[in-house]
Amino acid sequence: MKGILLAGGSGTRLYPNSIAVSKQLIPVYDKPTIYYPLSTLMLAGIRDILVISTPTDLPSFQRLLGNGTQLGLQIDYAEQAQPNGLAEAFLIGAEHIGSNPVALILGDNIFHGPGFTTLLRDAAREVDGCVLFGHPVRDPERYGVGEVDTDGKLISIEEKPAQPRSNRAITGLYFYDNSVVDIAKNIQPSARGELEITDVNLRYLAENRAKLIDLGRGFTWLDTGTPEALLIASQFVHVLESRQRVRIACIEEVALRMGFIDADQCHRLGAAIGKSEYGRYVMETASTWS
Ligand code: DAU
Repeated sequence: MKGILLAGGSGTRLYPNSIAVSKQLIPVYDKPTIYYPLSTLMLAGIRDILVISTPTDLPSFQRLLGNGTQLGLQIDYAEQAQPNGLAEAFLIGAEHIGSNPVALILGDNIFHGPGFTTLLRDAAREVDGCVLFGHPVRDPERYGVGEVDTDGKLISIEEKPAQPRSNRAITGLYFYDNSVVDIAKNIQPSARGELEITDVNLRYLAENRAKLIDLGRGFTWLDTGTPEALLIASQFVHVLESRQRVRIACIEEVALRMGFIDADQCHRLGAAIGKSEYGRYVMETASTWS
């Protein structure tokens, strides 16, 4: 399965924070925001990843992540000239996707919870149609919203409905079979002028090929779209990391645990940034790895 990490957009709700820096590069506590969705793709076992961002910001992502080989990944880059909508990722990424299934993750989405790796790996194994991930929120009108029947079967999806039919937001992680490229080619821009991911998902739903996996109450899903959301995300990560002495979304550790790199390489990556606590954690993780 191929991966696409969409990290464009203008980030206007974070201004002035995101005038000179891409919003997906702003730190969430101890690491750039993009580390979180990148680690999610890696935990799903995905190693071939296309990062899409604006022409201005793309060089910064390249400087941060390079071609990915240091993490045992293949990372390529593509420009999205304008924020024409999430579904444009499948048009920009058509060649990258080729004849494979694909996972799309939004560059500002943070996932954390028990059993996530197993859940991701199971969901990624045989994607027939699309797999969406739902999470209960207090303000569903800000998101794509999914409604399920009494058997847990997905029956409706609406983008930012004024009167949501449920409190189940559809998160920014999506798994698709290869027909997503053709579907994206055939949708029209919405009233706000964007190629909507919800319209892609509705096509799958109409064909009875859309599945919703509930992430449940014990799970945490955060986005970083506003200054407050960013602060909450940083506080969340800080609380977890300081209480447990483990780091979440440490891409070097994830690469090691997934078998993408060995302990020596992990140690080298830590040593290169060894003056920071993060770098020392990476080295320590490598040293105690067996
Ligand atoms: O976060 C989950 C939500 O993401 C879903 O529930 C919604 O169904 C989906 O439409 C999307 O809603 P948002 O309102 O959060 O989308 P937004 O326009 O803020 O874009 C999400 C991220 O994608 C953001 O970091 C910017 C980036 N982006 C956005 C657009 C429109 C791009 O890279 N390119 C784009 O063209």
